[in-house]
Amino acid sequence: MTSAPPPRNSLAVFVSAVLRQPSLIGAVVPSSPALAARLASVVPGQGEPLVVELGAGTGAVSGAIEARLGGRGRYLAIELEQDLAQHVQSAYPAIEVVNANAADLDKVLADRGHGEPGSVDAVVSGLPWVLIPEQVQRQIIGHVADGIGQTGVFTTFAYVHALGMVGARKFRYLLESVFDEVLLTRVVWRNVPPAITYVCRRPKT
Ligand SMILES: C[S@@+](CC[C@H](N)C(=O)[O-])C[C@H]1O[C@@H](n2cnc3c(N)ncnc32)[C@H](O)[C@@H]1O
Repeated sequence: MTSAPPPRNSLAVFVSAVLRQPSLIGAVVPSSPALAARLASVVPGQGEPLVVELGAGTGAVSGAIEARLGGRGRYLAIELEQDLAQHVQSAYPAIEVVNANAADLDKVLADRGHGEPGSVDAVVSGLPWVLIPEQVQRQIIGHVADGIGQTGVFTTFAYVHALGMVGARKFRYLLESVFDEVLLTRVVWRNVPPAITYVCRRPKT
């Protein structure tokens, strides 16, 4: 009798995804627990929030979000790479993992009954923004802004060493052109490489 192969560990899955699709992943290792905790901290600590993660990867941030929710609310994790989406789904069966493009966030939400603007309480992104064409960045951020409306929150991260580069500066400008409030948090040194997070609220009307 043959038994099922053991589940692959997250680092092995991540490395094989990087080798397969380097232009999609944009990181050399998954986010650290410290960065994951910083990102997950925007998730409301009470109530039944709707939370969306963009670019779940191997689930490095998903675990922190799930722990903060503690079974409350609804949690959708969107991941474009099928292998990674399957990995996150088997590692975190309670999360609703959607194998889709973040650029289709509006459809993903509408298909699940959350098409109303302002339905989402928190969007947490691990997307490699500088690898995503500017037009697609604008599309995704537009859907995020519609999703969170005037009451929700959006967070994402950027590597400190790259903050001065053109792509990173343009992305920050995009955030500031869409949201009334764009806060930069202090550096998370315990991440490879060190990172800051952006916390954005209230799309401009
Ligand atoms: C840098 S990894 C981050 C993974 C994880 N969130 C972390 O912080 O370790 C970026 C992830 O975004 C996914 N991704 C890239 N473009 C995407 C898109 N347009 N829609 C959904 N996921 C995307 C990649 O497949 C990859 O898993």
